[in-house]
Amino acid sequence: MNKAPVITIDGPSATGKGTIASRVARRLGYRLLDSGALYRVLALAAHERGVDLDDGTAIAALAPRLDIAFPANGKATLAGRDVSTEIRTGGNDERASRVAALPEVRQILLPVQHGFRKPPGLVAEGRDMGEVVFPDARCKFFLTASAEIRARRRHKQLIGKGLDARLPGLLRDLRSRDRRDEQRSISPSRPASGAVEIDTSELTIDQVVDRVMGVITAN
Ligand code: C5P
Repeated sequence: MNKAPVITIDGPSATGKGTIASRVARRLGYRLLDSGALYRVLALAAHERGVDLDDGTAIAALAPRLDIAFPANGKATLAGRDVSTEIRTGGNDERASRVAALPEVRQILLPVQHGFRKPPGLVAEGRDMGEVVFPDARCKFFLTASAEIRARRRHKQLIGKGLDARLPGLLRDLRSRDRRDEQRSISPSRPASGAVEIDTSELTIDQVVDRVMGVITAN
């Protein structure tokens, strides 16, 4: 069977992954999977229903019952309700990373993620896209940047949306989330084998997109 081509873009949060994946998808005319948004919506739904965030069985049982949709890039709905901002604020970063550390949850979300792979192709972004979810991807990337630079980017993003944000708290949260994502026993965040690593600390979004497109075109 000829499967639709996949480009994977992994890396820690605030490396510009989301914006870069979305631009690369647009240039290629491919679909986009923001896998972090799946974990984020599931975490929000579990929290709202009072489900214990460490109970993998209960959260995995909740997942198939949810009506989650991504009507546009950066938008997410839960049973028709726009939760795009809620999933990225008010402690939901932390919740998503806790829920994502549960093996039952990762297992149940695997076929959901595979379902995004449709012609003409898919750009998938997250932590384990290249290593676990789409190991046969055509090109794999791993984006990095220093924690300080990532915290500053996140700060600018939140302030730009008119939300309250403090740099020291953001940096602390980011580091604790990095630690959990990198040290968990299942699908820890690290470069997939064969991934092209790009340090985005000193690069603009356009420069990263150009590098990614350069590698894709050459392969
Ligand atoms: O990418 P984003 O910051 O939106 O992801 C939110 C959380 O979901 C991350 O902290 C990580 O724990 C988890 N995640 C994951 N695997 C993915 C994507 C996200 O574990 N493929």
